[in-house]
This record gives sequence, structure tokens and C-alpha cells, in this order.
Amino acid sequence: MACSAARGGRTLSEAFAIRDGAADDLAFVLDLGRRTIGDSVSAVRVAPFELVRLNYDRLVEYARSQSHILLVAESTFERLGFALLLDSLPDEVTGIPQAFVAYMAVEPHARRRGVARSLLAAAERSARERGLPFVALMVTEDNVAARALYAQAGFVTERRLLCKAT
Ligand SMILES: CC(C)(COP(=O)(O)OP(=O)(O)OC[C@H]1O[C@@H](n2cnc3c(N)ncnc32)[C@H](O)[C@@H]1OP(=O)(O)O)[C@@H](O)C(=O)NCCC(=O)NCCS
Repeated sequence: MACSAARGGRTLSEAFAIRDGAADDLAFVLDLGRRTIGDSVSAVRVAPFELVRLNYDRLVEYARSQSHILLVAESTFERLGFALLLDSLPDEVTGIPQAFVAYMAVEPHARRRGVARSLLAAAERSARERGLPFVALMVTEDNVAARALYAQAGFVTERRLLCKAT
């Protein structure tokens, strides 16, 4: 799917496309994720960066060991972002099948051009094609950009993850 960011009739930057990911996208997924995962650390549970990074690597390893969907946003010159979803992790309460966004991120220099919005739209299409009636995800309360993205894309709060220091 080809996309371009245009405002007031003016194209702000080059077009990009969303494609299925492949094995050779792994280095990009690891690199961009390690550079951005800090945005998902909440003020409640402050953690050393190395631990957070290691945990991100584990998440990617886990997702790749399961049935998953990898979508990559790419311009003519470079990869701009990705979404990594699990497609065999049903909702834990109802058991209803869903696609679950394990992580997604966009390169800092490519933000606010609709890349994440396009990745989410592609994720929804992939879920529908697989007969999965929902796309679900968790987002950190402090992650203002991500919360705004998901709200704008029509995601609603279904449950809350509560936490208290002991
Ligand atoms: C969150 C993230 C993926 C958004 O990517 P993006 O490509 O810049 O998002 P888009 O350009 O598609 O934005 C779509 C909409 O989301 C909202 N949004 C995105 N970034 C925002 C920000 N920084 N502040 C406020 N709203 C924002 C806006 O409503 C935006 O529409 P608009 O630009 O027309 O106003 C990106 O900031 C990122 O990679 N963050 C670090 C990793 C991360 O937090 N991932 C999510 C883990 S749950």
C-alpha cells in the first residue's frame, strides 16, 4: 500500500509504503525498538535502561517464536517504522481471537507523517484477513504520543493495568 503525507495540498515528505516484514528486517526491528522502548517505561516503575532493552529483545524473540505479523513502513530510501503483532493470543477473559500489537515504532525523523496510522490500518486489514475480529494492545499511561495515536485510530480503553509499589 502506498501512502503520502500531504497537508494543504502540499506533500511534506516522500511517499512510503507498508509491506510484510521478512527475516532481514529483524536488525531494524531490534535497533528501532531498543532506541524507542524507553517511551514505554512509566514513571511508576522506573527501570535501568539496559534491563528495559534486554526485555525488549526478549519480547521480539518471543513474538518471533509465535505465529506473528510483521509490517514494515518503508520509503524509497529507508525503513521508517514497523508493527509487530501476535495473531494467536486470544483475549484472556473471553477467549475471543485477536491480533495483539506486541510493539510498534516509527523513526524519530519520520514522525507525524501518518506512518504509524498507516501501520495500524494495515494491522487492522491483516487481522480481518485472518478472521480476527479485534486488534488489541497495551499502552503506557505516560506515553502521550502513543495514546493520542491509538485514540485517533479508534481504540478504546477496555481494561486497566493497575500497579502499586510495595
Ligand atoms: C507513537 C508513535 C508510533 C507515533 O508514530 P507517528 O508515525 O509519528 O504517528 P502518526 O504520524 O501516524 O500520527 C497519527 C496521529 O497520532 C497522534 N499523535 C502521534 N504522535 C503524537 C504526538 N507526539 N503528540 C500528540 N499526538 C500525536 C496524532 O493525532 C496524529 O495525527 P496528526 O499528526 O494528524 O495530528 C511514535 O511516536 C513512536 O514511535 N514512539 C516511540 C515508540 C512508541 O511509543 N511506540 C508505541 C508503543 S505502545
